[in-house]
Amino acid sequence: MGAGIWGETHASIYNEHVLAEVAAICDTDKEKAQRVADKYGIKEVYTDYHELFQKADFDAAAIVTPDHLHADIAIACANSKRHMLIEKPLATSKEDVYRMVEAIRRNHVRAMVDLHNRWSPPFNTAKQEISSGKLGRPVSAYYRLNDIRWVATDMLPWASKSSILWFLGSHSLDTLRWLMDDEPQEVYSVSHEGILKAEGVDTTDMYMTTIRFRKGGIAQMENGWITPNANSCINDIKFSILCEKGKIDIDASSHNMIQMTTDEKVTTPDILVRNNVFSKCRGFAYESIRSFIDQLSSGEEFHVSLEDAANTSLAILSIFESAETGLPVKVETL
Ligand SMILES: NC(=O)c1ccc[n+]([C@@H]2O[C@H](COP(=O)([O-])OP(=O)(O)OC[C@H]3O[C@@H](n4cnc5c(N)ncnc54)[C@H](O)[C@@H]3O)[C@@H](O)[C@H]2O)c1
Repeated sequence: MGAGIWGETHASIYNEHVLAEVAAICDTDKEKAQRVADKYGIKEVYTDYHELFQKADFDAAAIVTPDHLHADIAIACANSKRHMLIEKPLATSKEDVYRMVEAIRRNHVRAMVDLHNRWSPPFNTAKQEISSGKLGRPVSAYYRLNDIRWVATDMLPWASKSSILWFLGSHSLDTLRWLMDDEPQEVYSVSHEGILKAEGVDTTDMYMTTIRFRKGGIAQMENGWITPNANSCINDIKFSILCEKGKIDIDASSHNMIQMTTDEKVTTPDILVRNNVFSKCRGFAYESIRSFIDQLSSGEEFHVSLEDAANTSLAILSIFESAETGLPVKVETL
């Protein structure tokens, strides 16, 4: 479902996976669906997901519609007894989180949310080092995950219906929960508005959030959609985690492995998230989607549970509340 920028990424990955075959594609925009269908040899094209769930023959669906349009499709998918990979975030309202979890559990189907930062080589290595115990317990973390302004003004036609907290904050918060091995207890956030609104995109520019975790760890999370467009990389990523007996620092956007310079700009080509090698999609965006197929086929647990994704969305809703009220807000979990 969804034949946009990321839906095409999903189609290309299923297309090359030996255990997957794409049975059908659905987008309310028929031309978009048909273009992706023609490119990847997908035989059936739908414009209404209800019709797709009734007529098409398949085991699992990928829900790759805009952030605020995952819930109804996921519930229809669960009610049709199909498994699903849902793009992040799981949902953008508390009501939708609980409606989706109820439908998925009642129908005994499997669901993974594509919180793919867990497959990022530096972050996955950090998780392994922390889990080994040699660094001791995490004490504090800092995570900046920003996009250049172009993503909000030009790339996403629906940016004003979402937020940087959903689009990138869901990755940041899931990663912090995972590396701290803990759930947020309380959040306090301040935000800045005006730069994107002046460009006609009705969404918040930036959030700075302080998180207190249940076991005592603390973290600072920065998510903005206003990094200058001339930044050498689409993302601006800086991460550090301090543990009782050591620390880890990650600079994933300026990784110093490749740099390209023209008369106009210096760029850092993406070789981590979604790069092509001999026309095949690679990078950790590929790994997470491939992992969904692998774990679904083997019956093993997904590396992101439904509870992980639900708790990430619930914590982000508390961050919105804190930024609006100016007060610390307790975080609800499933
Ligand atoms: N994992 C990642 O890092 C990553 C990267 C980019 C996007 N995403 C996520 O993927 C999702 C889609 O993002 P995108 O950039 O592809 O957006 P997009 O706007 O390019 O594509 C979304 C598509 O969904 C279609 N659509 C809307 N409502 C529909 C419906 N009811 N039924 C069928 N199709 C419908 C639209 O017509 C559009 O073609 C978002 O949730 C986004 O956050 C994830």
